[in-house]
Amino acid sequence: MRQYNALINNELIDNGQWLEIMNPATLAVAGKVSALSAEDINKAFAVARSSQQQWEEVSLLDRIAVIKKFRDLIDKNKEEIAQVMSEEIAKNLKESLAEVVRTIEIIDYTFEEAKRMEPLALTGEGMGAKNKLGVFSRVAKGVVLAISPFNYPFNLALAKIIPALVMGNTVVFKPATAGSLVGTYMSKLVIEAGLPKGIFNIVTGRGREIGDIITSNPEIDMISFTGSVGIGNQIRKMGSTTDLVLELGGKDPAIVLDDLNLEKYADEIINGAYGYSGQRCTAVKRVLVNNEIADKLVPILKSKVEALSVGMPSENTFITPVIDEKSADFIQGLIDDAKEKGATIVTGDKREKNLMWPTLIDNVTVDMKVAWEEPFGPVLPVIRIDSYDEMIKIANESQFGLQASVFCQDISKAILTAKKIKTGTVNINSRPQRGPDSFPFLGIKDSGEGVQGIRESLLSMTRYQGMIINY
Ligand code: NAP
Ligand code: G3H
Repeated sequence: MRQYNALINNELIDNGQWLEIMNPATLAVAGKVSALSAEDINKAFAVARSSQQQWEEVSLLDRIAVIKKFRDLIDKNKEEIAQVMSEEIAKNLKESLAEVVRTIEIIDYTFEEAKRMEPLALTGEGMGAKNKLGVFSRVAKGVVLAISPFNYPFNLALAKIIPALVMGNTVVFKPATAGSLVGTYMSKLVIEAGLPKGIFNIVTGRGREIGDIITSNPEIDMISFTGSVGIGNQIRKMGSTTDLVLELGGKDPAIVLDDLNLEKYADEIINGAYGYSGQRCTAVKRVLVNNEIADKLVPILKSKVEALSVGMPSENTFITPVIDEKSADFIQGLIDDAKEKGATIVTGDKREKNLMWPTLIDNVTVDMKVAWEEPFGPVLPVIRIDSYDEMIKIANESQFGLQASVFCQDISKAILTAKKIKTGTVNINSRPQRGPDSFPFLGIKDSGEGVQGIRESLLSMTRYQGMIINY
């Protein structure tokens, strides 16, 4: 059984309290991580604060050089990291390794982009202030709290931690409990890489028990959170003046406007809806299509869904167990509600504990929960709507505003449609997705606040510091 420690001031924490982490595939214990007390957590923030100024004063290139040692250790251990991840979140081994490799690529690009964070140099001439020269540099905000979700436990952790550290912030990192083995795996790498004491601290424990203690700590200058709308809004409502970046849930629609390339559209929709068993914020979570096209599209989707492999993550199947039985119960509830209200189960609706077969539901109507709620599981509703205006209305009526897809070969119509959709991003002729990671990534409405992406994270984790030279 794996056992990893939280990390405070480069010390591995063993306070005698442990939290068991389940393997969703076997439903057995995969390992245990430290369960921290309020006192431990406060210490993590205290050392993050006391080490920050000194870290900020290290030159950018020297900061990058020391973080690069940590990056190289990730590279060296990538197969083991992928194995740990796969054991605790049931992401298949191939995708787990891809997540680690993608993270290394993000780190490398972050190093390069940080060197391009050049200051603004302005004269006051245009405002009649001829003898003023202003230099506005990006400087660290201070102490960053990074909170990550279970579904990308490595990638969405380091996509926050690395830009924060590179720009001279110090970090307190709280991984999701399902995901904290891979989170605390990093503790030893931090020590081995020789990162200065106190700049990268890892705190573990159940969010419902220690979440408020963490998020209300007065030392926090910025919170970067990825997770559910419920917890995100809770953090939002705490009303602190701390800067926030929140990346929350989604209900991304795929709007199909023609039948000119249905095979390709269906491939994108299937990969979008069912990848990692639908446990992606950017999963396709509803298809909006008119009756005539639906009659052709649904049989194509059906045959592709039925071809998806279902099984265990170690076998690299496409569909693997969802994170826990509670989540499976919730997903099943959405399917049952749709069935009771008259929807057609095209395929799926089969379950063994938390392993759920990919389910395609046709004739979903707006009175059904699955039309609006985020299942975070392998379920795709098809909503048939003949009127184009009604389609746009339903797409926009959602509480969410993460991404959308528009499938249409007439590029003018596709662009005009995309401009009507109220989401952070619209993908034309592809599934919704966060990448490429150099692009800004954002959600509006309940889907979030602020922007992620490599350059945007460097910006959000810094502020301007102006220096005005009078001559
Ligand atoms: P979650 O339950 O909201 O948990 C997210 C993180 O918040 C975990 O680390 C969790 O710790 C922690 N947490 C729980 N209660 C807290 C509290 N009171 N205060 C502070 N932190 C607290 O979300 P999840 O189930 O891990 O992830 C799935 C959700 O994330 C979905 O809704 C998905 O759409 C969304 N998501 C969004 C994006 C995006 O970029 N838009 C990306 C990935 C996922 P514990 O695990 O210990 O409870
Ligand atoms: O789960 C939310 C992630 O930000 C989605 O990332 O589109 O690369 O799967 P992805």
